[in-house]
Amino acid sequence: MALPVAADDPRRTRFLRALRREPTDTTPVWLMRQAGRYLPEYRATRARAGSFLVLAKTPELACAVTLQPLLRYDLDAAILFSDILTIPDAMGLGLGFTEGEGPHFARPVRSAADIARLGVPDPEGPLRYVMDAVRLARRELDDRVPLIGFAGSPWTLACYMVEGAGSRDFARVKAMAWNDPASLHRLLGTLAQAVADYLAAQVAAGAQALMVFDTWGGLLAPSMFAEFSLRYLAEIAQRLRAHPHAGSVPLILFAKGVHGSGQLEALADTGCTALGVDWTIPLGEARQRVGARVALQGNLDPTALHAGPAAIEHEVAALLQAFGPHPGHVFNLGHGITPGVDPERVAVLVEAVHRLGQRTAA
Ligand code: CP3
Repeated sequence: MALPVAADDPRRTRFLRALRREPTDTTPVWLMRQAGRYLPEYRATRARAGSFLVLAKTPELACAVTLQPLLRYDLDAAILFSDILTIPDAMGLGLGFTEGEGPHFARPVRSAADIARLGVPDPEGPLRYVMDAVRLARRELDDRVPLIGFAGSPWTLACYMVEGAGSRDFARVKAMAWNDPASLHRLLGTLAQAVADYLAAQVAAGAQALMVFDTWGGLLAPSMFAEFSLRYLAEIAQRLRAHPHAGSVPLILFAKGVHGSGQLEALADTGCTALGVDWTIPLGEARQRVGARVALQGNLDPTALHAGPAAIEHEVAALLQAFGPHPGHVFNLGHGITPGVDPERVAVLVEAVHRLGQRTAA
């Protein structure tokens, strides 16, 4: 890192303290997709790598990109640069990315026979490049800020694996839920085991917090969410809690578009440490509903980064006030930063959170 950070610098612990709902000097902040195309240095490294996949699969490059946003901004956490689709890739589905079109699989999973063939990948086998990137990033960070490891949820991974690519509605996996639920449950069970093993291995490699992205949980009606996503999120939380090394590491669950009646409460009851919340629910309401059971991470509308500095500051103040003077808030966007954002606006956001968060931090 550019500058050494003193042993008692609050940046070393703010994020982990907030996740544990302990008092902090100010509100910690990091941003989903903080390393990405909005940064010119990311685009330069990606161009040198030749493709996103080479970048993600080369530990030195993945580590360099993980650190890029921290060299620019006073962020309180680093997130491993990788992707949620590493697990299905390691299962043999053949991941590719087409410029402008996103991810696709050469061998999607469409039948009970396809599902029966899938094994749980060894995290230090075909996914070793991810663990090497975690080890490198942790060493380079030198405890300046904590490192977050992550994975996709079983449901969200199944969406891509069955569809074979991104989609607006992921109709194929939803048809499987109606027509062959037993096969889908088998797939989700295999994925829950794979995700738990993968996250535990990231902890062994140095990750200090974990996040599970259920980006497509909101495609499911509440009863189907409970059956096909929540159940497996809870299984992962339970497996990690029971794990000898990963048991005490904070776990953040982010289920985008999932906050219907009882749903946030059910997510909070899985045994996770914190919930990520998207921008479509008032943060004060989310906080009221989960009480002091879990910390909350969120939830500025990512498009607010296209607003001017005064408007960004206004939105930050409103969110901090909506959460209120309780411990347990990690400031973030409600989803990832989009590629068109001006990097200067991100600096405005981070500075405003730290300055205004001092008033509301408990
Ligand atoms: O937050 C971070 O800075 C860490 C990096 C990160 C990436 N993907 C890098 C990436 C994380 C946490 C992810 C998770 C991920 N990947 C999710 C869940 C989070 C979310 O945003 O909902 C999903 C659904 C994916 C699958 C995926 N990967 C898609 C749909 C795409 C294409 C989208 C796009 O913006 O083109 C990717 C590629 C990807 N993953 C990029 C990055 C920076 C863009 C690749 C590039 O062109 O450089």
